[in-house]
Amino acid sequence: VSSPSPGLTQGVRRVVAAAWQARYRIEVESELRFSALAQRLADAQMPAELVDRARTASSDETRHAAECVQYVKRYAPDAELPPPPPKAREFAPGFLNPLQRLTYEMVTTCCVAETHSATNLVALFNAGPPEPLLSSLQALSRDEVTHGQLGWAFLEVARTRLSLDFLVPLLGGMLAADAGQALMTPANPDEDDPVLLQHGVLPHSARRELFTATLNEVIYPGFERAGVSTTDARAWVQERL
Ligand SMILES: [Fe+2]
Ligand SMILES: [Fe+2]
Repeated sequence: VSSPSPGLTQGVRRVVAAAWQARYRIEVESELRFSALAQRLADAQMPAELVDRARTASSDETRHAAECVQYVKRYAPDAELPPPPPKAREFAPGFLNPLQRLTYEMVTTCCVAETHSATNLVALFNAGPPEPLLSSLQALSRDEVTHGQLGWAFLEVARTRLSLDFLVPLLGGMLAADAGQALMTPANPDEDDPVLLQHGVLPHSARRELFTATLNEVIYPGFERAGVSTTDARAWVQERL
């Protein structure tokens, strides 16, 4: 990656650097997460194809983390990379049984987080930033699309093994957690500068719009196809976003 492009204000550069650092951390944790999920899918006697896809996803995330390092170094040359967490966090509430917990993790990781990540990366690619960023975004988005699809494929199998009704009251919180506090609070002007698109970062307002569009066009219909009602989730999200 060549030297930082000139013309970025310090404020915008800080936003770009923070975004790539955050992305790096997510990729590193995703590698651990998919590796753990692959094992749990195998332990739960899920189809080998799903196990393999989770393993592949884990190695995809290793490549993504390495890719992100290039951009962290470019925009924050002095930043120290945080050490990888000892293990991926578990998001599922403790009151669920083991198969429900696995389902919760697959849903929140793949159907929600990876689906959003994929649409964000596709939008960033479509904004046509300069190389080498364009190629990086193409590679990242292609993989994240498959990680999202893994979630929907899992759900088709899971619904034959357990009732997915337990997800209904949990979806809203899951979606809000994915949106994060930052998306629900107003941005400062640096966070909404259109020049961010040239550096692989979505301006805040675009990210909000895309979040809602992805819910309406991909995520809600996906849950409904799997027989999971999204009426409560829609109300929950609408109240907060
Ligand atoms: Fe990734
Ligand atoms: Fe991913």
